[in-house]
Amino acid sequence: MKKKVIIDVDTGIDDAMALSYAVHSPDLEVCGVTTTFGNISVEEATRNTLQVLELVKAGDIPVYQGASKPLVRELKEKAKLFHGENGLGNIELPLPSGAPQAMSAAAYIVSATEAHPHEITLVTVGSMTNLALAIMAAPQIVSLVKRVVVMGGAVTVPGNRTPVAEANICADPEAASFVFQSGIPLTLVGLDVTMQTLLTREHLQQWRERDTKVSRFFADMCEVYMDAYAKVGNVRGCGLHDPLAVGVVIDPTFVKAVPMHVQVDTSGSASDARTIGDRRENPAFPPNIDVCLEVDHERFVRHFLEFVM
Ligand code: BDR
Ligand code: CA
Repeated sequence: MKKKVIIDVDTGIDDAMALSYAVHSPDLEVCGVTTTFGNISVEEATRNTLQVLELVKAGDIPVYQGASKPLVRELKEKAKLFHGENGLGNIELPLPSGAPQAMSAAAYIVSATEAHPHEITLVTVGSMTNLALAIMAAPQIVSLVKRVVVMGGAVTVPGNRTPVAEANICADPEAASFVFQSGIPLTLVGLDVTMQTLLTREHLQQWRERDTKVSRFFADMCEVYMDAYAKVGNVRGCGLHDPLAVGVVIDPTFVKAVPMHVQVDTSGSASDARTIGDRRENPAFPPNIDVCLEVDHERFVRHFLEFVM
């Protein structure tokens, strides 16, 4: 039986790849896609999501627009350096013919979870605001959702938005902190593992040779993403952050996860939005999250390349 998933995105380049990978994966049924702010505004995320789903012939999957700003803070700047002005590396797609559903993202997460108790895996690959709002509105979903797989955090490695913090947690630290403490079953797919799963320029060359509308779009977009990675550090390609979160739902053996107590720093200081994992032999609190610390990157990247388009 296919695993039912809802994907919560701030579509972005790697979000676009995660969506395409999920809809083509024979193991998943994408029940709906919810949108949030992060890489770009929520309105842009919704437009990009509709465009990408239509491009990969999955325009029938319903899209629900979500939060436009963090729970308590001001909205941060868009991640233009990595994702371009439009979120898709400034590569243009035709305007979507479809539109988002009337229901909000948080309301959809609640209703789908209640309609399919213990069956839905939620994959969050943007700010965690929609999930926080859903839990606030309907705390019972904490025990009705099968699992939440979060692309976010950096428990044992440096951050990417700040020296210690990862972009999705930075987008709304209070939302992440609230979800982490909610008791919902969580798997954290952070930079600890996503920076080991790289797409390279050689892969893009293969997509160019395939020469389809979709393969050209992904190659052009990822070229921009890789140029940004090359500017900020010595990375040979780009991190497959959001696709790895989808991969972990498809096959949890792509990673090794360790149960850990993790809290989010919301101090507003230099360590703001850091995901602090208690890795001591005798931690002060019981584990609340399975943190992915190792990844079989070759096997995952092979699987991703097979199903992304
Ligand atoms: C995460 O931040 C966003 O820019 C990406 O889409 C990904 O979800 C990586 O830190
Ligand atoms: Ca994302």
